[in-house]
Amino acid sequence: MTLLAKIQERSAVVAVIGLGYAGLPLAVAFAEAGFSVLGVDVDGGRVAALDHGESHIQDVSPDRLRRLVHEGRFRATTDYAALGGADTITICVPTPVGQGHLPNLSYIEQAVDGLAPHLRHEQLVVLESTTYPGTTEEVIQPRLQAGGLRVGRDFYLGFAPERIDPGATSSPGYTLATVPKLVAGATPHCRERVVALYATIVRTVVPVSTLKTAEMAKLVENAFRMVNIGFANEVALMCDQLGTDVWEVIDAAATKPYGFLAHYPGPGLGGHCIPVDPYYLVWKLKTVDFPARFIELAGEINRSMPAFVVSRVATALERRGGTLRGANVLVLGATYKRDVADTRESPSLDVLALLLEGGAQVSYHDPFVPALTIPLRAGSAALATTSAGVAGHDGWGLPGRDLPAAGNGAVAAEDGEAEHRLSCVDLPRGLDAADCVVVCTDHTTYDWGDIAARARLVVDTRNALRHVPQPRAEVVKL
Ligand SMILES: NC(=O)c1ccc[n+]([C@@H]2O[C@H](COP(=O)([O-])OP(=O)(O)OC[C@H]3O[C@@H](n4cnc5c(N)ncnc54)[C@H](O)[C@@H]3O)[C@@H](O)[C@H]2O)c1
Repeated sequence: MTLLAKIQERSAVVAVIGLGYAGLPLAVAFAEAGFSVLGVDVDGGRVAALDHGESHIQDVSPDRLRRLVHEGRFRATTDYAALGGADTITICVPTPVGQGHLPNLSYIEQAVDGLAPHLRHEQLVVLESTTYPGTTEEVIQPRLQAGGLRVGRDFYLGFAPERIDPGATSSPGYTLATVPKLVAGATPHCRERVVALYATIVRTVVPVSTLKTAEMAKLVENAFRMVNIGFANEVALMCDQLGTDVWEVIDAAATKPYGFLAHYPGPGLGGHCIPVDPYYLVWKLKTVDFPARFIELAGEINRSMPAFVVSRVATALERRGGTLRGANVLVLGATYKRDVADTRESPSLDVLALLLEGGAQVSYHDPFVPALTIPLRAGSAALATTSAGVAGHDGWGLPGRDLPAAGNGAVAAEDGEAEHRLSCVDLPRGLDAADCVVVCTDHTTYDWGDIAARARLVVDTRNALRHVPQPRAEVVKL
């Protein structure tokens, strides 16, 4: 039977490599569409948990996963050899940036090298990981063809960027099935098969002419968001200089029914995608001597926001006769986005680190994050002021210390860098004790009226308290 027929009949075995935020919901969608799904991941603990129906992804409930495991529609493995039995293989592994924002393709390369020995006739390989234009053709295709099989003739290759909106609070109703899917193939035959595969789980599939077009489109989507948030953050800095309220300004501009798309400022930019992916484009353009100026500038402004927030805290405390040093500061929200459990690249961590470096007594609350480790720069003030939990505190960068296993305090990490460990505090007690509360993430479970009633001073980076009438606390907006 041909691959196309197997896809149409749902008898194809669908594999997903990388079972994280992008890969697991995709695997579940294919299983729910009627396919037999194989998940491959290098994390043995994760694989064992998934095989027992335990989901680590908020958007995939354990009930959903358990049913699929029980019905034999989903199984997970660490064994790449199992891919020999798959008809389609989608790669959803991480694409982080390293030092100097350089692309790190090692996860993609490892996945493709793991798959290559098991590649066979009539298989379809699709990359979903976000990456620079040219990756599928220049990095993946040669590795897959090294064994002698030819793309478009013996096997098929495509790119279909992930557009998942974790938590989906900013865009309710946009699910994997309803968000249109961009797809491309190495050849027209390849594209036809990628379209057929995704049409089984997505209402609208949008084929584009080349792999590079799809790769570029995904990066443009993310860069668009990064640059616009960067502009909104700069507008906040401008409004601060001119003494106007940035939130009122943006809401006023947004009443224009065309030609304006509202973006809002905040404590910075976080998550695994928006602050990271555009640097894949920056790097690719550097190879042709073209500077991606908007992206670089937006990145600079976004990264400056945590320091601006902490300067707001210091100024507000000083106005009330206090100082940042020694003040009790409670940060609300550690995740990068409302109602998600993800702290990757979260600006809250930078705000916490800067508060510690400024000598504040810092605590945090987040309903999704029971404990946090915050990296500190060597020589920061926090190292001198938070010695309570430090074993033999006589300097930093000394490896091999007996470190406290848990609790709040600064510790020297194995690699000589310092870090500070915090546990989530009880919210009412934290609010009562705080000289200043900093709202970094506006989770919907927070009762802003109660927060405004208990706190003395709130620095609100999300305009979360906008609907609280006559708050008892002094509220300082971004
Ligand atoms: N998270 C999102 O909201 C989102 C949205 C759009 C696009 N993306 C893109 O999707 C890709 C994956 O991101 P994510 O957020 O799902 O990452 P993740 O860290 O949540 O998950 C990645 C998974 O891949 C596994 N893995 C790593 N190397 C592997 C290998 N060689 N073989 C098999 N498994 C391997 C990891 O153990 C992990 O389970 C990235 O390119 C990201 O930019 C993510």
